[in-house]
Amino acid sequence: MSELQVAAPRHDGAPIYQLRDVIKTRQSDGIGFQLRVPQLQIGLGEKIALIGESGCGKSTLLDMLAFILEPSQAARFQFHPGGGREGLNIADHWRHARRNRLGDLRSQHIGYVMQTGGLLPYLSVRQNMNLSRFVQGLPDDDTVTDLAKELGLSRHLDLKPAALSTGERQRVAIGRALAHKPSIVIADEPTASLDPFAAEKIMSLFIGLVEELNITVIVASHAWRHIKRLGLRRLAHQTRRTSDGKLTETVVTG
Ligand SMILES: Nc1ncnc2c1ncn2[C@@H]1O[C@H](COP(=O)(O)OP(=O)(O)O)[C@@H](O)[C@H]1O
Ligand SMILES: [Mg+2]
Repeated sequence: MSELQVAAPRHDGAPIYQLRDVIKTRQSDGIGFQLRVPQLQIGLGEKIALIGESGCGKSTLLDMLAFILEPSQAARFQFHPGGGREGLNIADHWRHARRNRLGDLRSQHIGYVMQTGGLLPYLSVRQNMNLSRFVQGLPDDDTVTDLAKELGLSRHLDLKPAALSTGERQRVAIGRALAHKPSIVIADEPTASLDPFAAEKIMSLFIGLVEELNITVIVASHAWRHIKRLGLRRLAHQTRRTSDGKLTETVVTG
């Protein structure tokens, strides 16, 4: 048993996100897109999958949940990183353009895994994985070493990302997203650039780790078959396009 297994307490049933009437509209090349979330509640410790074809709005939703993207409208957008009743009013922070506050909340409570890792090429694997802790001013303890062991990266800690395979780099990105022990980890198609065999292996490793650490997870993917086996709840949504093809709307129904 590693130190990593000393997990944050689980608050079963407590919500981490509560959204009501959240809308994001986007426009590119004369084509409109609208994502609408009438009602969404995600519980602390839940494992959520967002599955859908390219362009249906997965990244749009994830980026709003990570406070990267400002909603066009939000009747309610509460974030409760530690569970409990009192949540943080994210809609209000956006309304008052408190970007620094949103950035601080993101680095403290959220881990984000991008499709292509987003590692810094001039830092070692160890430094990349430690980045989320460094930003928080967290001490240099055994967390990164322990995580590297779990992710099969112990031998690579002093290498630069360029010396690693694509799969190994994604494992580093996963380690970085978890190293500061966030309340939630958001992963946007984290295995999309891998072959199906490696993708399946890394997704299992990732979900196993978030379970061990008791971290809530939301992962976007277009491969439902494998994700389903890992016990994730699929977020329901419907996408429709107007007959002239000028507007696509996705409604997330929870
Ligand atoms: N930066 C952007 N500016 C304008 N429109 C965008 C931008 N990013 C994505 N979109 C549009 O929003 C829609 C949803 O995109 P996205 O959330 O990236 O879907 P997915 O992640 O499911 O592939 C698409 O129609 C896309 O063209
Ligand atoms: Mg996307």
